[in-house]
Amino acid sequence: MRMSAVIGHRGAAQLAPENTLAGIRTAHALGLEWVEMDVVLLGDGQLVIHHDQAVNRCTNGSGELLSSTLEEIKALDAGVGFSKEFAGEEVPTLKEVIDLLSELGMGLNLEIKMHKHPVDKLVLPVVEALKQKSLPDGKLLVSSFDHDALKLFHEHMPAIPVAHLFEKLSVDWQEQARKVGAVAINLGQKPLKRSQVQEVINEGYEVYCYTVNSQSRADELWSWGVSGVFTDNPKLVIR
Ligand code: G3P
Ligand code: MG
Repeated sequence: MRMSAVIGHRGAAQLAPENTLAGIRTAHALGLEWVEMDVVLLGDGQLVIHHDQAVNRCTNGSGELLSSTLEEIKALDAGVGFSKEFAGEEVPTLKEVIDLLSELGMGLNLEIKMHKHPVDKLVLPVVEALKQKSLPDGKLLVSSFDHDALKLFHEHMPAIPVAHLFEKLSVDWQEQARKVGAVAINLGQKPLKRSQVQEVINEGYEVYCYTVNSQSRADELWSWGVSGVFTDNPKLVIR
């Protein structure tokens, strides 16, 4: 198994502000070994960890990340909206996330969030950043819903394992997975059927499912052969 049976989704999004260092620390304190986080591009070419294309939902600011600088993003509070206890929490850079995960010995599923930008505008900076600073072998897996982004990433960094994300398993999933050199298929859990999990496993891929916030669904998915589940709340999903 490449990742663990339970992976903290956006850190531990129900228990700490999503995609923050506090989220990583929360996941770690609850015994998780892996977290999933989203990487996005800023207007000045810097990379930060954030899910949306705008900062409105998760910070006290407003506006698009693609028209912001790192200095502007760093001035925002990504914690106070979640709870006062997290006031002052920053939107982290990819580098800060890698530093903390290294210190804690944790693994990262880095999801490349394309939003609207051209593929190379985000993928090439991610490649450069990971060449400068990465995690030990076996502690990093890169994923994306965006096929072209994964393909470009894999061409530049073939040694880093890649997972193709699908909300629903597409009819041509095998061809897509093959083209990006995927080792795993990360799937939305809601529409997922046992036969689909079997199909993917039979082709030699691992399956990871998002987002699973109940023990009964996690148990069911594990019983189908799913390697791991992404959860917002590791207190609710225990292996
Ligand atoms: O990588 C799994 C999951 O995070 C994909 O969906 O929207 O939560 O990034 P989303
Ligand atoms: Mg994600």
